[in-house]
Amino acid sequence: MANIVIVGTQWGDEGKGKITDLLAEEADIVVRYQGGSNAGHTVRVGEEVFRLHHIPSGILYRGKLCLIADGMVVDPEVLKEEIENLIKRGISVEGLRISQNVHIVMPYHRILDGIWESRMGKGRIGTTGRGIGPCYADKAARIGIRMSDLLWEERLREKLLINLEEKNILISHYRPDLPLLKLEELLPRYLWLGDFLKPYIANTSLIIQSAMDKRKNILFEGAQGTLLDINYGTYPFVTSSHPIAGGVCIGAGIGPKKVDKIIGVCKAYITRVGEGPFPTEIKDGMGDYLRERGAEYGTTTGRPRRCGWLDLVALRHAVKVNGIDSLAITKLDVLSGLPKLKVCVAYKLEGREIEDFPMDANILSKCEPIYAEVKGWEKIEGAGDFSALPREAQEYLRMISSYAGVPISIVSIGARREQTLGWRSRGEGYLWDRIVVDTVD
Ligand code: GDP
Ligand code: IMO
Ligand code: MG
Repeated sequence: MANIVIVGTQWGDEGKGKITDLLAEEADIVVRYQGGSNAGHTVRVGEEVFRLHHIPSGILYRGKLCLIADGMVVDPEVLKEEIENLIKRGISVEGLRISQNVHIVMPYHRILDGIWESRMGKGRIGTTGRGIGPCYADKAARIGIRMSDLLWEERLREKLLINLEEKNILISHYRPDLPLLKLEELLPRYLWLGDFLKPYIANTSLIIQSAMDKRKNILFEGAQGTLLDINYGTYPFVTSSHPIAGGVCIGAGIGPKKVDKIIGVCKAYITRVGEGPFPTEIKDGMGDYLRERGAEYGTTTGRPRRCGWLDLVALRHAVKVNGIDSLAITKLDVLSGLPKLKVCVAYKLEGREIEDFPMDANILSKCEPIYAEVKGWEKIEGAGDFSALPREAQEYLRMISSYAGVPISIVSIGARREQTLGWRSRGEGYLWDRIVVDTVD
């Protein structure tokens, strides 16, 4: 294998969990490098469905080393529940390691997330309400609490005192209905959570460095997606971390030259959960059809996802800012049965045709999609090879590859592992470096 990065090319929920699980079999280590419990990665194994928020999707392979690396923010209450749920379902978490440097999402971050959203009124982001933005804000302001702080009572007390003084002023001002947060309650609770998580706390970047020295295979699992990146997404309707491939270097502590392959996960259509511009959004019954057919409801919040036609302008942007080597196309099966499909190939902005993705949310909201119409297909049967797909589905994939300028290496036609073109039986591993479609010379 190699050191592979899996990134979302859209607004999240592209199926990164499934693709990570698929490739994890051959990896020695699976690493999450950014985000926190805002992520919801669904992995289906046979009849069982696992929904992961912090823990890398490699955990379903017994004993696989799974790292929660430095760039993440962790809510210990949610993580504890996640660990306990997995154990209850017979999944071992012995391979789990959490960086001592991850920042802790505290109860006041969740409250502030809600306050910031309500203050923005119509301009609200539609966050997951998991306290992600306020936690990363404290990290940048250098007043954040890190995992290692939970192991030292005096240090935690000092940091909590400083934070509670400020946060309680804000909370009492904007939410006088809420009780103030008390040091006497938070300190023992978070020391206790620290104690619970202690067996898993480690220097994850050292683990990664030494694995790289031994030429181990490392899989980096992105959360969210390129269009939610705080620099390269549709700011301010973004998350507060760097989901793009570059985020791996700062979030896991490796040099850029250590990454061998970058796989961009792209749904065969596109969805967005939360607010913000969305040029190809389908506002009529077709959008509802895709939502039902694709079960497009948030894994973390249960919110209905906004659905739209595949946006190749946005995809090209993602290919560039991530340096994507190949694409994993997911949910192709969801489009089966539609007589015609639309694909956005350019935008119209104030009478001009543009092909570059505007990251400015105001400008993007003025863009109208220019569609190409392509023929649909009736159904996709089995999980054979590319040649077994209906001709129209082949054409659809060729079109995506050609516009994106990169080959397609994985095509997913159902939620299960074996519902992937070219799937080989367990134990042989998935041929991650095969090329399914290559229209690029
Ligand atoms: P992630 O956040 O990128 O990991 O994606 P989510 O897990 O939030 O959403 C993807 C959903 O689609 C999950 O419920 C997956 O089980 C499911 N899924 C993944 N790939 C396919 C596919 O090829 N076809 C279908 N029908 N479902 C898929
Ligand atoms: P996965 O990893 C889809 C969205 C929220 C909101 C914006 C900011 O499952 O793909 P935040 O809570 O991060 O401050 O919210 O980002 N968002 C996601 N949308 N999938 C996700 O994760 C998301 N994580 C955050 O809906 O619009
Ligand atoms: Mg998700």
